[in-house]
Amino acid sequence: MSITRLSVEHVSDTAILTALARAIESDRPDALFKDPFARSLAGVRGEQLVSSIPNIDSLSKAIAVRTHVIDEFILKAVSQGEIDTVLNLGSGLDTRPYRLPLPSWLRWIDCDLPGILSYKYDTLSNNHPNCTLEFISLDITDDRARRTIFQQINQSAGSVMVVSEGLLIYLKPIQVTAIAIDLREQRRFLWWLTDLSSPKGLQLTEEFLGVNRLNSQVKLEFAPEEGIEFFHNFGWRKMALRFLLDEALRLKRINLSEELLSQLPFKGQQNLRNVSRLVWLIRT
Ligand SMILES: C[S@@+](CC[C@H](N)C(=O)[O-])C[C@H]1O[C@@H](n2cnc3c(N)ncnc32)[C@H](O)[C@@H]1O
Repeated sequence: MSITRLSVEHVSDTAILTALARAIESDRPDALFKDPFARSLAGVRGEQLVSSIPNIDSLSKAIAVRTHVIDEFILKAVSQGEIDTVLNLGSGLDTRPYRLPLPSWLRWIDCDLPGILSYKYDTLSNNHPNCTLEFISLDITDDRARRTIFQQINQSAGSVMVVSEGLLIYLKPIQVTAIAIDLREQRRFLWWLTDLSSPKGLQLTEEFLGVNRLNSQVKLEFAPEEGIEFFHNFGWRKMALRFLLDEALRLKRINLSEELLSQLPFKGQQNLRNVSRLVWLIRT
């Protein structure tokens, strides 16, 4: 009898894995957040993918910490009246419009590839978001489609916060450059929240996801050596910066550092600190 080993095959599988990680976090008695939709969104495919992830526990903790910090950033911006629109690029199975206490006047726009977006739309169709929610199907690497959509949103919004959680690492530097320039061109796009891997972080994520096989269609690409300075050239500068490792310690997902240390092909706290950063960018 042959056993088919399911693995991360398409980039949208990473959205399913992220949902699964949020489901795992939500089950904890000390959960950093409760995502009541995550388990059903991860679905059967999520359970199948777990078998291909050697260290799902560490991955879940890292994703939970990242999710929580970005929740904090978004809630802060909303409570300070800084934004009226969130543009969520590579939105995947993120359920913030349903699970966060967002005001009804907030406009939230989820953008992703058509397959994952329609799957999410169908799965959540019986639930009501707390704010206005729109779905826009977009391949973010399609220059013309991206610019058209950015311009349309810019014309109809007051002040926009862009979110690209877990997206940029799958794009080539030239594609991230084009996105950074196009975002900056929109006068009302004021803020940009993103995670940012270091080259070592990319290597580690490849190993975690098991996507460093020759036949994998999922390629990890973006982890600039220069870190946040990458964005400076395109009119974005740092407003706030959090290191995933520090946040994991703060949020008592403390074993993360020990687990990482024991598995990493490189040593040192500073390297570890840079593995992944969460950045709040502001247009200059
Ligand atoms: C790791 S998931 C993160 C999903 C979501 N931001 C979250 O945190 O739950 C990466 C997402 O990026 C999306 N993505 C990757 N390449 C894309 C592209 N070229 N255009 C649009 N979305 C893309 C995938 O479909 C997937 O949903």
